Amino acid sequence: MSKELTTLLSRDQIHDRIKEMGAQITADYQGQQVHLICILKGASLFLADLARAIDLPVSLDFMAVSSYGKGTKTTGEVRITKDLDAAIQNMNVIIVEDIVDTGLTLNYLRGLLENRGPRSVKIATLLDKPSRRIQPVTVEYVGFTIPDAFVVGYGLDYAERYRNLRDVCVLDPTATSAGA
Ligand code: IMP
Ligand code: MG
Repeated sequence: MSKELTTLLSRDQIHDRIKEMGAQITADYQGQQVHLICILKGASLFLADLARAIDLPVSLDFMAVSSYGKGTKTTGEVRITKDLDAAIQNMNVIIVEDIVDTGLTLNYLRGLLENRGPRSVKIATLLDKPSRRIQPVTVEYVGFTIPDAFVVGYGLDYAERYRNLRDVCVLDPTATSAGA
């Protein structure tokens, strides 16, 4: 592994935790169907593993968003760059996200999707960085709570790199050549 990366969560830890999350979701929605909405691109690897850990009828859809002024403004304004393919009326929606940071993205998305008439909306995130929260957001399923560090791997990127790492790693910005 290169010098700028330090493993925070190993592939085995991630795999074991997602199995537990899938079992929890399976128990919570017993006898029902769930509709997983993956927030692209970061959550795509998590979605693939979480979906297979759920022992219920599952359907999938995908959404892509980009935040305005992240890190500088706190408007919470989020732009949808790819909307869902299908309506979600009467569905048990679970928003599948890679990481909750400021909370702006998920706060906005939850409100948006709740207005489309689903039966329920819950959120599943692989990672949670609560120390960075600007807007409170209820997250029903959290894989791991992590400290305030910039992480990559298992779907998460820095400038579109590192998504294919099997472990979640802390990226040392002073050691990286990724942006060069
Ligand atoms: P927020 O909760 O609205 O601040 O946005 C969360 C989004 O910011 C995530 O979906 C990621 O795309 C991105 N993000 C936040 N923290 C990290 C990180 O440590 N590594 C990679 N992406 C991150
Ligand atoms: Mg994301």
